[in-house]
This record gives sequence, C-alpha cells and structure tokens, in this order.
Amino acid sequence: MSAETSSAHSIPDSMRAVVVYGPEDYRIEDRPVPTPGPGELLLRTDAVGVCASDLKCYHGAEKFWGGEYKEAWAERDRIPGHEFVGTIVAAGDGALDTRGVALGDRIACEQIVPCWECLYCERGGYWMCEVHDMFGFKGFDGAMAEYVLVPTRALTHRVSSELPGEHAAFSEPLSCAMHAVERAQIEFRDTVVVAGAGPIGLSAIAGARQKNPLRIVALDMVPEKLELAKACGADVAINFAEQDAVAEIKKMTGGYGADVYIEATGHPSAVSQGLNLLRKFGRFIEYSVFKEKVSVDWSIISDDKELDVLGAHLGPHCWPAAIKLIERGTLPMEQICTHQYPLEQFQEALDKVGDSSGSSVKVSILPNGRQPAAE
Ligand SMILES: NC(=O)c1ccc[n+]([C@@H]2O[C@H](COP(=O)([O-])OP(=O)(O)OC[C@H]3O[C@@H](n4cnc5c(N)ncnc54)[C@H](O)[C@@H]3O)[C@@H](O)[C@H]2O)c1
Ligand SMILES: [Zn+2]
Ligand SMILES: [Zn+2]
Repeated sequence: MSAETSSAHSIPDSMRAVVVYGPEDYRIEDRPVPTPGPGELLLRTDAVGVCASDLKCYHGAEKFWGGEYKEAWAERDRIPGHEFVGTIVAAGDGALDTRGVALGDRIACEQIVPCWECLYCERGGYWMCEVHDMFGFKGFDGAMAEYVLVPTRALTHRVSSELPGEHAAFSEPLSCAMHAVERAQIEFRDTVVVAGAGPIGLSAIAGARQKNPLRIVALDMVPEKLELAKACGADVAINFAEQDAVAEIKKMTGGYGADVYIEATGHPSAVSQGLNLLRKFGRFIEYSVFKEKVSVDWSIISDDKELDVLGAHLGPHCWPAAIKLIERGTLPMEQICTHQYPLEQFQEALDKVGDSSGSSVKVSILPNGRQPAAE
C-alpha cells in the first residue's frame, strides 16, 4: 500500500466485523481490512459505544428502515457503530498533515460524515447535511470491527490515549447532549429539568452543570440512575414513579414551573410531562428519537404558555469541550460505563442496551480487547 503505516503495528489482511444483514440479523464475520487512500486514515478500534439508536436500528424502526412516509436510511451490508475512538495505524497521502495528527494518536470521529456541498453544509449546518452519511448506518462502515476507515470528509478530534477506550468514546453522547444544552440557552437564574438519566440525560446534566444555572433537576424512575444524575451535577433528583414531578417542580419554583426542559428519554409520556411542568415562556428542548408517534395537547405551546420548542440533533461544535470534560475527570466515567464486551459478544451488548430493567447505562464493545494504555 502507498499509505504510511505504523512500524509498531503490523496490519493483517482481514478483520472480525459485525455486519448488518437486516433488522434483527447482524452477523459477525471476516472482512478485508480497508486500505486508506489519499486523505484517509485507518484506525485500530479502541472502543465503540452501543446506543439507543443502534438498538432501534437493530429492531427495524421506521426511522432507519423506512415506512409509509419515509425512505430507508440505514443500509444493509454495513458494519455498525458510530460512537468510537481508535488509534491511527495507517494513513493515506496527506491525511496526517491535513488533520495535524501522527501515527499512534488516538482520535474520535464525529458520527456524521458531511457531504460539504449541500445547502446545509454550505451554510454551516453540517450536522443536518442533506445526504446524511453516517458511520455505521449510511455511506461508511462503522467501528464494530477491529479496524475502521476514516474518510476524507469526516471530522476528527484528538483524545488522550491514557483514557480507557470506552471513556474516550463517550465523547460522542456527551457532545450530543451538550449541543442540546447549547440549544437551551441556559441563564444563571434558570431551573433546568432534564428528563431521563440514561447516557444522553446524564450528559445533558453534566453539560448544564457547566452553565451553572440556579438549579438542575433530574427525572427518572430508576433509583441508581438518579444517584448517578446527582454525581453528574443534578441538584435535585425526582423519581417520577414515586413523586408527582409536576407538583414538585412547581413547589420549588414558586408555583410557576421550570424555565428549561430537556427531553432525553425516548418515551412519549415525557413530552406531555415537560409541557406541563414548564412555566410560561419556557424552553422545551427535544433530543429524543421516538419509536411511536407522540400526541400531546399542542395548544399548551401557544395559547397557554407561549413556549419555545427547539429540536436538537447530534453534537456539532461540542466535541472539544466534551473531550475536555472527560479528560479532566469531571464525569463519574467508571459509573457511567457499566458494561464492556468483546466484539464476539456484540449480541449480548445489544441485548444489554435493550434490557428495560435499567441494569446498564453505557454499554461498549472493545473490538481489540483492553489495550495496555487503558489498564
Ligand atoms: N437527536 C439525536 O441526535 C440523538 C442522538 C443520540 C440519542 N438520541 C436519543 O436520545 C434519547 C435518550 O438516549 P439514551 O441513550 O440516554 O436513552 P436511555 O434509554 O438509555 O435512557 C432513557 C432514560 O429515560 C428514563 N425515562 C423513561 N421515561 C421517562 C419519563 N417519563 N421521565 C423521565 N425519565 C424517563 C428511563 O428510565 C431511562 O433511564 C433516545 O431517544 C435516543 O434515541 C438522540
Ligand atoms: Zn449514538
Ligand atoms: Zn451536506
């Protein structure tokens, strides 16, 4: 190959990889290790997180496989995995210089691979790229494999090799949630409610903590997750299965309600919950992706409360800040990263994410096992 390769690492011809054959049909098999062309990098995968979206795709959700009004977006014959970090082991012409990196560096890649040509990319909104290629779903293979190719169009960020891989790969959900926090335009006097204390909600709490509002309230129904929410920076944790969340929040805000509600549950019930607990002129940030359609009393947004309802997608411009938070040890990463699996056990990893008893927070796959730097 014309690519520069790491002398410390000999690259095999084939690798183990999970391959999407279709909904509920993911298989592990041998695939050729890609050779980086000009501007491309080859990473040895250190860790890849498994997220709620991976699971929804696995189970055949309409957002991924299409339906009555939607075309399919996800592709078959693709290696899944979009939350990853890896170590650079080979580079095509110019790739190291362009990105200011060296062989042996660890990098995280943004999940979206922008086309850089569409209306949104041209206007600076690359994360809403019309083409919407994304590692592991469309256009490019992801990281549930021993190696992953970084195309020229991808956005990369350096991450410390000292961190355990699964901690470093958490920069993906953390940057996503921090984007939701940016959308909320939090002010010092605000009471911010975050619904859901999964990886996204916990990250939103950690991000909101950096903005130092008056009060951050976490809502969930799993006691361990509420404890973790406090460790991530929540001032108050409410178990909505035991307490009336709307009444509690009204009580702590002089009867008015919360200023900001960040919805990170994926459950339709959390939408009306948010509309009900916000004060007039409040801000509702929607980050979830729902399996079912959600119906609510839409007039609350207009006539009752004149709310700002803001969507948020991915984590643009938040990666360096997210990586810094993880590198500084600001988050309780040991508690957040609850499960790590070898590649051969990808099915167990998916099942663990799907386990509705709340037994996991962040589930990760370590395709090359535990690397020495992380021990
Ligand atoms: N927009 C994007 O770009 C993007 C990116 C990543 C994830 N997501 C979405 O964000 C959502 C959250 O992701 P996650 O990985 O943290 O999910 P998760 O399933 O791990 O966590 C959701 C949490 O919400 C709790 N919950 C359920 N109903 C609730 C309610 N009514 N009020 C409060 N809490 C409630 C659950 O107990 C659970 O702890 C998912 O829908 C996911 O698909 C969106
Ligand atoms: Zn994800
Ligand atoms: Zn584009």
